[in-house]
This record gives sequence, structure tokens and C-alpha cells, in this order.
Amino acid sequence: MSDISLASSHASRNAAEPARAGWGSRAGFVLAAAGSAVGLGAVWKFPYVVGKHGGGAFLLVYLASVFTLGLALLLAEMTIGRLTGRSATTAFRMLGGRAWAWAGRISALNAFLILAFYCVVGGWTIAYLLRSITGEALVADTARLHSQFNTFIADPWEALAFAGLFLVATAVVVIGGVQKGIERAGKILMPALFVLMLMVIARSLTLPGAMDGVAYFLMPDFAQLSGESLLQALGLAFFSLSLGAGIIIAYGSYLPKDAPLVSSCVWVGSMATLACLLAGLMVLPAVFAFGLPPDAGPGLTFIAMPAIFAQMPFGHAVAIAFFLLLLFAALTSSVSLLEPVVAFLIDEYAWPRRRAVVVVAIATFVAGIPAALSFGAWKDVEVFGRSLFDIMDYTAMNIGMPLGGLFVAALVSWRIWPQARTVLGGMRARWLVPTWRGMCLVLTPIAVLAIWYQNL
Ligand code: PFF
Repeated sequence: MSDISLASSHASRNAAEPARAGWGSRAGFVLAAAGSAVGLGAVWKFPYVVGKHGGGAFLLVYLASVFTLGLALLLAEMTIGRLTGRSATTAFRMLGGRAWAWAGRISALNAFLILAFYCVVGGWTIAYLLRSITGEALVADTARLHSQFNTFIADPWEALAFAGLFLVATAVVVIGGVQKGIERAGKILMPALFVLMLMVIARSLTLPGAMDGVAYFLMPDFAQLSGESLLQALGLAFFSLSLGAGIIIAYGSYLPKDAPLVSSCVWVGSMATLACLLAGLMVLPAVFAFGLPPDAGPGLTFIAMPAIFAQMPFGHAVAIAFFLLLLFAALTSSVSLLEPVVAFLIDEYAWPRRRAVVVVAIATFVAGIPAALSFGAWKDVEVFGRSLFDIMDYTAMNIGMPLGGLFVAALVSWRIWPQARTVLGGMRARWLVPTWRGMCLVLTPIAVLAIWYQNL
């Protein structure tokens, strides 16, 4: 057995069978966790957030966040999963006591909130896949692409229908228990996405004027950094590693007992970062070559990509393959987001799995309506000066996920440290033990609280 179906495992736990399926191999876990990490965050969010916060300096802060706090928290979440073999709420309660169950509830709430706006962008991906098939999206004129995109996202029916379709696809995967198949397919499809991105990068870099975009992306200009950009970089690190939402806890709970945790973390972190770097190199040079403003916001990737496809050999086929692979990557992430919310209802209220999936999918759709309409019908509605889509995104990325991360760090480095450190038992690199604890116990709270304080 090389992979598992989370579905069957939760079901067997419900039936109080002691046997619990495992990933069987570390590769199964790394692929599933990387499948959750690599998705729209890298391809859609990363380029526009870098573009909004000034390029290279932001990239450095993002990388520093991933390779310090990000990896430390990834390891901490895996540890919680490994020690308990349970999903977040139960795991927090088992290790910390009753009050800690709140930490698990908050992480499930994060997953729910993220999925509510993630499905809107998942819907855009489906729409662009269809438009690539019909050829409608292959336009070289970026002004036209811009207006096409704006008209499309402003249409309430289309926005809702495509978001709904994306959620239905997610729910079908989770109900059908076909995660196993999806993870197997990921072995081929994720590398395929990376290879395709390399091909597109080759075209993007050879567009006239592209080097300005490369310089913008890779040369740090620290004058561009603000308190808000630090918060965004940290939030983006959480988002791109799928932290603070209970997902890595649940996936870690299926790891075989002897799997090496640290190298698994490094694998997942590196794949997520690589995806972001490739996406940046694909989108930003083209943005500069086409004279688009890098701070154009959430539409950046969807406007720049079709323009590249329109100017590359076999562009039509490449466009279809790209949006198909992106949709697949988005689904492996959305499936991972639905799972903790479903697991919460199964574990806490003993709901049957199918009912839990259907109810959560419908509730997510309803919660996502404001996000879907915020580019059109409800464009002028603002909360704290942000659109409805933005406020959901901001709350999840900058408040919810860091809060979830704080709980994880506190549980592992303080409440259960003697137990937690045993997972590093056989490590030869002894320095890792105090470093990990220091990052969780000292650096995480300082970074999160300082940045929150600054932004308030
Ligand atoms: N990491 C995913 C992406 O970058 O697309 C999104 C995501 C999944 C965020 C799961 C958070 C999460 F818990």
C-alpha cells in the first residue's frame, strides 16, 4: 500500500476500529502535503502579492519566513499529527486538555474561510480552461484581456456558477474517497505543471522588456517594505505552506511511525517555494513586457498568462494544458481544505461523512457568495476599507492562519515539549532541537504579535 484514502480512514475511526491506515510511505505523505501546498496560492496569489509589495525585498522576506517559522511550524503540525494520530480538534484536546480544543476549532474555521474565497478563484480557473478550449482567451492585446477579465468577474451568475462547480468537484472527490487516485495522479501532474511553467518561463523571459520584470522580482529594494508588507509576507508563507488550518496535522497523523519528519518538512517547503518562484518568473517578466501595472491585484495572472500563450508556439495547446494542470493543483488544495472541516463534524458530532461533506460544501458556497459578488454587484461594499473578497482573504491570511500557527507553536514548544521533542529522537543534527523550540517558543510569538501590533 503506498497511499491511503483519508475517507476510509476517518470512516474506520468512526467505527471505532483500532487499526488506522497510514501513508505507507513517506513519499505518499510528502505528495499529499505538497498537493495541498502547491495550488492557486503559488500561481495566482504569489505573483500579484509580490507585485503589490514591491518585488525583490518582499520575496526575500517571504523566503526567510518560509525557511524559518514556516518550516518550524510545518514540523510542529506534523508532530501533533504524529503524536495523536488524530485530526486537529481531537489532537489539540488530547495533547493540551479541553480548552485547547478551541485551537482546533479555530483552525477548522480558517480552512472554511479560506475555501469560501478559494472556490471563487477555482471557478475562474475552470472558466479560463473553457475559454482556452474555445480559443476565446487567446488574445494578445492585454487591454482587451483586462476588460474581458473584469467583465467576466463582475458577472454575478458566472462567478457563482463557476465557484459552485469548483466546490461540487471538490465535494465529489472527498465523498468519492478518490483522494488516493488523486494523490497518485499528483505524482505525474505536479511535475508536469512545473515543466510546463518552465516552458512558459522560457517564452516570458524572451519577450522584449522582460528583464525589467526579472530585476523587479529578484533585486531587493528595501525601501519598498512596510509593516503591512511584512505581515503579508508572513501570511503568504502560511498560505503557501497550508499552515494554521489543521491540514498538516491531519495529514501528519497518517505518517508511518518511522518516517523522517524533518526531511519531509524540507521537501514540502521546497516544493511550495519552487512553485512560487516559477510562477513569479513566469508572470512578472511578462507583466513588465506588456506594460501592465505589477500592482494590478488578483487578476494579474489571469490577464498576463493568456497574453503569453497568444504569443508562443503551440500556445493554444499550452493554454489548455496550463489551466487544466492549474485546476488539478487547485483541487488538491481545496480537497485538503474541505477535509479538516468535514473531519471536525465527524469527530465532534459523529456526523456521517457524506452528510458532513454536503453540508460543508453548501455552507462554503453560501459563505463564498460575498466574495464572488465583490467584483461586480457588491463591488462598492467595503469592510474596513476592503472589498468583501479582500477582507475574507486578509482575515484568513493575516489573522486566522497566524493565530492557528501561534497555537500550534505554543502547544508543541511549551505545553507538551518533553513529548514533542521525542519525535526528533534519532536526529544526528542535535542543534535542530533547540533551534526548533526557539523558533516556536520565541520567534513565532514575537513575529506574529509584533506584526499584528504594527498593522493595528
Ligand atoms: N496552499 C494552498 C495554495 O497555495 O493554493 C492553499 C491553502 C490550502 C491554504 C490549505 C491553506 C490551507 F490550509
